[in-house]
Amino acid sequence: MDAVNRQVRLAARPVGLPKASDWDHTEEPVAEPGDGEVLIKLKYLSLDPAMRGWMNDARSYVPPVGIGEVMRAGGVGEVLASEHAGFEAGDHVTGMTGIQEYAVLPGDGLVKVDPGLASLPVYLGTLGMPGLTAYFGLLEIGKPKEGETVVVSGAAGAVGSVVGQIAKIKGCRAVGIAGGEEKCRHVVQELGFDACIDYKSENVLKSLREQCPSGIDVYFDNVGGEILDAALACLARGARIPLCGAISQYNAEGGMRGPANYMSLLVNRGTMTGFLVFDFADRYAQGAREMAGWRQEGRLKSFEHIASGGVPAFPETLLRLFRGENLGKLVLEV
Ligand SMILES: NC(=O)c1ccc[n+]([C@@H]2O[C@H](COP(=O)([O-])OP(=O)(O)OC[C@H]3O[C@@H](n4cnc5c(N)ncnc54)[C@H](OP(=O)(O)O)[C@@H]3O)[C@@H](O)[C@H]2O)c1
Repeated sequence: MDAVNRQVRLAARPVGLPKASDWDHTEEPVAEPGDGEVLIKLKYLSLDPAMRGWMNDARSYVPPVGIGEVMRAGGVGEVLASEHAGFEAGDHVTGMTGIQEYAVLPGDGLVKVDPGLASLPVYLGTLGMPGLTAYFGLLEIGKPKEGETVVVSGAAGAVGSVVGQIAKIKGCRAVGIAGGEEKCRHVVQELGFDACIDYKSENVLKSLREQCPSGIDVYFDNVGGEILDAALACLARGARIPLCGAISQYNAEGGMRGPANYMSLLVNRGTMTGFLVFDFADRYAQGAREMAGWRQEGRLKSFEHIASGGVPAFPETLLRLFRGENLGKLVLEV
């Protein structure tokens, strides 16, 4: 094949927000698939806050992306050629493809998706990793019961938007926290949350006390920092906090800030439990099936924020997550 594969590679470990010089833009010929492999033409790439952590040279749940390596990313695309019995040209698949236009990957790590059931970006959002994070994090770690109050930060984003909608499906009161009036309006009017607190213009602690008069039963934490402290100050007895992420801290220079109000867990007999979506890998199909059913019934809405510019636009597009410039799942069209 004569086509050229444009890629973005990690050039340097960032300090604070990633900058243009932390990336290399490279080109190489598109490779042929070997035995057991599949050649994919990428259509959409997933942009995730976790990418910032993968760029650090630190021990984590996955090894850091090496200097000079293609940036790690999830993607969805079309199979062009297959040397794996499970796939044929024309199939659509998702997997960890990296920030590039074409990928040759072992077929065993890929999942077939049906573009007739949902548009391709949805498989990077609600029916993909972020949706499954919301599903398992809320249901297995948060364990919401009917009538309880569930609060979620990052409520207009990929994970948070699904958390609140599932909370409503389970008969809970859903309160979101998001940045800006427009996002809060979206969270209530489009996603059906009961309320949304604009952390950029409101006193979060005061608004949480107003919106959660009997306290917070489940606080699904996507952001950490001051918002986590405010939520800790409002816990109901026996509250559960699924610790999903801490985006407010990912670019902190000089170390992440931990919660100050953690004694509230003792006072309220609460728990705060970290989890990774990968912990539930053997149940992904079950979670995706149930969420696909809710989508078809109109009970779960998906919003994707589709950025243009292709692979070369990746470095600048990634920053949108940290500036809050996405509504729903941020994907890059290749
Ligand atoms: N544990 C897991 O397995 C797992 C899996 C996937 C994701 N995660 C985590 O889940 C969280 C949400 O990820 P996502 O993919 O759904 O991203 P997202 O919410 O779609 O996008 C990130 C959002 O974070 C908000 N944000 C950025 N800086 C902030 C700050 N300083 N304070 C408060 N909010 C800030 C912005 O929304 P506003 O405009 O509202 O500020 C932005 O739109 C992240 O922490 C991510 O690392 C964890």
